[in-house]
This record gives sequence, structure tokens and C-alpha cells, in this order.
Amino acid sequence: MGMTRRPFVGGNWKMNTDLASAVELADDVVAACGCFADRCDIALYPPFPYLQVVGRTLGHHGLLLGAQDVYHQPNGAYTGEISTDMLLDLNVKVVLIGHSERRHVIGENDELVNAKLLAALEAGLGVVLCIGETLEQREAGDTNRVNVSQLMAGLREVAPEQMEQVTIAYEPVWAIGTGQVASPQDAAAVHRIIRRSVADLYDQDTAGGLRIQYGGSVNAANARDLFGEPQIDGGLVGGASLDSPQFKAIVEAAVQATEKKREAPTA
Ligand code: 13P
Repeated sequence: MGMTRRPFVGGNWKMNTDLASAVELADDVVAACGCFADRCDIALYPPFPYLQVVGRTLGHHGLLLGAQDVYHQPNGAYTGEISTDMLLDLNVKVVLIGHSERRHVIGENDELVNAKLLAALEAGLGVVLCIGETLEQREAGDTNRVNVSQLMAGLREVAPEQMEQVTIAYEPVWAIGTGQVASPQDAAAVHRIIRRSVADLYDQDTAGGLRIQYGGSVNAANARDLFGEPQIDGGLVGGASLDSPQFKAIVEAAVQATEKKREAPTA
């Protein structure tokens, strides 16, 4: 597993911005981060109603348009839901699946997460499968068990060749939106378990090529240390992605950390 993976930073805007501020933020992010797009995958996940306008802004700048969720059925009587074809129509490239807020606030279970993931892969979309333990689970010593279980359930029936489309985001629930970031060592320890599980489930090459993002209170001040960990291939950023200078600093930290890893490769 001596390879260096291309870093991947996502800005999950969640249920924030309005039409005007979404366009403005996308413009600012393109201006600030466009120059890094050759060295880092950068995705923006605006709210559904703004996908089209944000997509126009990202257009030819090499940034990826992302969606925060998708439904697994192709069409029909599913009021309020959004299909993979609708996302493809808008030039969406990547979709978040099983975000912590979908699981814990909206109530999605592992079966629905897996169905959505399979549908998105089938449609040719990139997917970011989000997993993570709650504080209660961490304190009970269940961190590894919970993450491996969400990982296995999410990847159920995913073919080896589809794993190229998959990124994992490890987002400990207690670190999301709390300002309480996981230590780089704690995050890396979970990333190592995730990678080992993928090696067991598929093979070493698949695990070695898999990108695992960390998410949960990533900001301009802590990104460098997090991304310095060989196991951490970038971040999924909430709050700090709404501030373009801060988001730029995070992307820059990912690019610089990857250059260092390339100079001094480790495991
Ligand atoms: P924060 O960066 O606001 O903690 O959110 C993390 C997250 O959930 C990204 O998907």
C-alpha cells in the first residue's frame, strides 16, 4: 500500500445558503480553489434547488458538482425524492450517501443507505459513503464495531470493480458541527480499521486505492495536522466550507500534505 492517493476535499453546504449566496459562494470557491483542481478532487454539495446554478458556475473549472443525497428508485410516486437520472441531468458527479444527519436526524437505516449506494453506483455516479459512531458508542468502546458494521452494510453487494467509484467519509457524530475535532491519531486509527476491512472484503489493491476522508469540525487551523496522517486522504467539510478563504486553506492543506507524503511515502 505504498501508493499516494489523490486528495479529495468536499464542501457539504447542508441546508444553508439561498439562491444569491449559493451563487456567490460557488464563484468565490472557484476563484479561490480553481488553481488546485489539478492536484485535488474538490466537490461542492449545495442544496438540491441550487444544484443547477452552482453547476453552471463550476462548469469548466474542474470542480465537481455534488449532491447531498439521492433516492434509489428510478422514478414514480416518491413525493419529495430525487433520482439518479435527475442528478445526472444536472451534471452531478458525486453524491453523499448515508450522511450522519440523514441517519440520525432523518432516520435512514443501513438497508436504505445500501440501496441508495447501489443505485448511485449503477448510474455511474461517484459516491461518498459516510459512516461514524456517536459519542455514546465511542464511550462504550464500540467505535470500531459500529464503523465496520456501517461500512459492511453500506458496501453490501458492491462489486470489486465498482469500488473505484467509492470514497468513504469517516465522520464521528460527536465531532460534527461541535467544534470538537477528532485528534489526527484517533481519526487515523479508525481510517486504518476501515482500510483493513476493505482489504479483507476485497483485496489489498482496492484498499490501497480507496480514499478515506475525515469529517467533523475540520477547519483551516486543524486541516494540516489531520491531512498529515498517511491514512487521511482529505476531508468532508461542513461549516468551514461556507467560508471560501477557510475552504481554500483546507484544500491547500490537503494538496501540501499529499506532496509531503509523495516525498516521504509510508505505509
Ligand atoms: P462540520 O464541518 O460542520 O462539523 O460538518 C461536518 C460534516 O458533517 C460534513 O459532511
